[in-house]
Order: sequence, then C-alpha cells, then structure tokens
Amino acid sequence: MDVRFAPKNLSALLQVSTDALVILWPDSLPAEKAPSWPQTLMEWVLQLQNAQVFLPGVGKWAATPGAGLAKAKQVVVVGVGGGSAKDVRKAVLAAFGVLKAAGVRAASLSLDLLPECGPQQIRAACQAAWDATYEYTHTKPTAKTRHLEKLTLAHGAQPEGVRWVAEASAISKGVELAKEWANRPANHATPVLLAEAATQLAQHRNMQVEVLSHKDVAKLAMGAFLAVAQGSEQPLRFIVIRYTGAAKDAAPVVLIGKGITFDTGGISIKPAPEMDEMKFDMSGAASVLGAFEAIGRIQPRLNVVGLIPACENMPDGRAVKPGDVVTSMSGQTIEILNTDAEGRLVLCDALTYAERFKPDHIIDIATLTGACVIALGHTRSGLFSNSETLLTKLVKAGEEAQDLCWPMPLDEEYGEGLKSSFADMANVAGRPGGSISAAKFLEKFAGKHRWAHLDIAGTAWRSGAAKGATGRPVGLLVQHVLTCANSVEVGGPSKKHKTKSAD
Ligand code: BES
Ligand code: MN
Ligand code: ZN
Repeated sequence: MDVRFAPKNLSALLQVSTDALVILWPDSLPAEKAPSWPQTLMEWVLQLQNAQVFLPGVGKWAATPGAGLAKAKQVVVVGVGGGSAKDVRKAVLAAFGVLKAAGVRAASLSLDLLPECGPQQIRAACQAAWDATYEYTHTKPTAKTRHLEKLTLAHGAQPEGVRWVAEASAISKGVELAKEWANRPANHATPVLLAEAATQLAQHRNMQVEVLSHKDVAKLAMGAFLAVAQGSEQPLRFIVIRYTGAAKDAAPVVLIGKGITFDTGGISIKPAPEMDEMKFDMSGAASVLGAFEAIGRIQPRLNVVGLIPACENMPDGRAVKPGDVVTSMSGQTIEILNTDAEGRLVLCDALTYAERFKPDHIIDIATLTGACVIALGHTRSGLFSNSETLLTKLVKAGEEAQDLCWPMPLDEEYGEGLKSSFADMANVAGRPGGSISAAKFLEKFAGKHRWAHLDIAGTAWRSGAAKGATGRPVGLLVQHVLTCANSVEVGGPSKKHKTKSAD
C-alpha cells in the first residue's frame, strides 16, 4: 500500500476524486472552527445523529454514496471519541474494515477535525489502516482479494505531516513483514528461509548481513544453542544483520530475536492441543526483521545490530535429554531439566555473542513463557531490565507506539530456583513466577551490559477465529530506536552515543 500525506483541510478533501473518503469525527467539535466546515457535510452528519443512525462511540460509523456531498464515491464518518491515538486506532480499524469488505482500492482519511493531530495520531491512523488491510495469502492464495492500494492521510494545518506519514508508513511496513513471517507455517519459515529473508532485506536496504551455519556456531562453542538444534533435521542458522546509521565505532543497540521456527517442546514434549501455535515461536525473530525493515527505510542516525538464533525444537533420537548438561558460549554450564525451556538456551548464547559489538545496550525479544501470558494476558508484553533508565524508556516507547509493555521485577530471590547440583545453573525453576525466573536466567548472560528482555508470549499473536500474528513489538522497538537516535544518551553507567540530533 502506498500511503501519502496531503496538506488538505476537509473542504479541500471533499473535492478530491477517490473511492472512499473517511472522516474521523470527534465527540465534540471546537465551535470556533465552525465557519470553515463544509455545510452540506455538517448537515448530513447532524441528520444522521438526530436519526440515531450515526451513534456516539469510538468506532461507530455511518456511510453514504458521495454524490452531492463529495467527489469521493463513498463517504464514511466514524466516531473518534476524544481523539487520542488509541481512539484513532479503534476508529480507523472499524472504518477500514468496512472498506476492506467493499473492496475499496483508494481512500482518503481526514484527520482535520481531531482536537490534536500529532505524530502519535498519524502513526495510529496509518498502522490501523495497514492492520485492517493486511491479508495472509502465502499458503492461501485464494484469500487474495481486491485491497486498498492507495491511502491519503490529510490535515489542513500540519506542516510535519509529510515526514510523520513517511515514518509511520515505514513502521507499518516493518510490522507487516513481522506479521508475514510469523504467520508462515514452520515448513514455510525454516531457519534457512528466515536467513534468506534477512539477506534479501539487508540487500534491499543497504545493510550488512552474515549468516552462520552449524560449523560456525560449533566453532564459537554455542553449546546451549547447539543443544536445542540437535534434535531437528532442519539446519540451524545464526543471523547477524547490521545497520550503520552513525559513526562506525559508535556503540550500537543490539536486538536479539528468539527464532524457534517450531517448538514441540523437544523430549519434554508439549500436549497436542494448540501445538500448531508454536509456529509463532519465532515471533521475536520476525519482530527484529520487521524493525530492520522500518529502520532501513527511516535511516536513523544510530547503529543497530540484529541477532537471530534460529532453529527448531524437536524430539528425536539425537535430541537433548532432560538432565543433559551443556556448556554455553559464556563458559557457564547449564543443566537442561526441561527441553521445553529452549528459548532461554538459544538466547543465552546470542547474548554472549552480542558482547563483541560493545553494545550501548541489548534488548532481547522472545515468546519465552506461558507464565507471562498468565501474568499479563494479551495486552502488554512483559518487560524486564537491569537498567531503570532503559526500563522507563521502553515503557514510554511502548506508550507512544500504542504497543504496550509492563515492568516486571528481577529480585535476586526469583533466581534461586535455578540452582543445580550438576551445573552452574538449571534451565528451569518452579512454576511460580515462571516468566521472572526465565528472565533471571537470561540476566546471567547479559554481563555488565545494559539489557532488557521483552516476553511477547501473550502479545505476538492472537488465537481463536482470527488467529494470526500481530507484528508486535515492532512499533515499540522502532520508536525506541528513533528516540535513541534523537537523544545523546540512553542513560545509566555505559558509554554515550555519538549520534547527533536528527533535527
Ligand atoms: N515457546 C514457549 C512459550 C510459550 C508457551 C509461548 C505458550 C506462548 C504460548 C516456551 O519455549 C516454553 O515452552 N516455555 C515453557 C517454559 C517452562 C518449561 C519452564 C512454558 O512456558 O511452559
Ligand atoms: Mn518451549
Ligand atoms: Zn519456545
């Protein structure tokens, strides 16, 4: 989809020929602006309201053929409440759901009546239009329908509109890439295919990529990652993708995505119901690819490294067994008491590998624990960090991007269950606080670096009738990267960025 900004107020937009014109309609309109409103439109909406056809409420809508009102073939008004980014998202999802059903190809969206139209409203509008339009077709070509190809976001008095829409559109494309790869079934999204996708992305966006295979990973002595991969016929890949937007020696942000392309649980095998959803266990990896897609388009002045340990977790004659002890790349030994706690095993070696980039900070993203779903449900991702500053910054980025997360604790006591009689640590503790003990495990591999961990087990996909990947937390990650690029320092004890202000 091609998304543009037009510096047009509502009256001007009425004169534009298009398939559909969508107008965001707040609960109360600022009366002082009334003289500039198009009278026929105002009268039409008033009639609808009086007849209770257009009811109050965010996402409530009414539509009419454009004739007599606008040059558009169809006009849709949709309630946007107080006009917050959250309201905008809900309203646009509703309206564009209607357009999708009608097979509309080109649409304009007027943001003119919003009490405030800032980057968050524009991003929310763009993302919601994109979300409502996305269709998975890779293994279901019959789902291909006519869809929205051209979208114009319009506001009469927003000089920054062009830049914000370009940025929002880049982020939406990243979200879409993440959704697409997470949605693809495990036989269509193997570690090798993921590596190919990363390579293509890097070539396209002028970034560097390096793909390590079994031999390289063995040479690096990534014993924990190797242990997970050893039960699968699919060869593992360790993907390194690098974006250089600042001086070569400026400390990068490192993003690590869990890339388990299918998680059976291994010998500690999972029950059959809903096991298909474990194809989404590479959503962290997909979100890193999505973030790089957006970063490559936006070109922020900052260095970013993406690391993706990708493999399957399978039961097999060669598979790792409960009780096996492996040596991680860090040298710490791990007793694998449960082969289903594989995410932390692939991530711990990636965390050690990250050290060579002398990172400013590291963020890992993983569908790590069912316990996180119990703790936070499907609304907020779990956030863990050894740096208060980074924690605060990521919560804020999540709010700005409408891609929420919530701080979780890392008290020492939560790590006590990881003690082992046969190794430096076990890979599982008890069930209580399971998402926290998982984070405590990872923390042991973050060393002295500023580090954050996002458990996206509850937020990366939706189950049920509308089963599918959400593309989260691409929005949060890109917002965070942009904030870092526009500030001098993330905070905490580490080195400073050398990036300049983008303004
Ligand atoms: N990929 C799963 C986590 C998961 C489960 C995400 C369900 C979303 C929905 C992870 O590899 C896993 O199996 N974790 C175990 C850890 C346990 C054995 C300590 C879990 O959460 O049950
Ligand atoms: Mn597992
Ligand atoms: Zn898993």
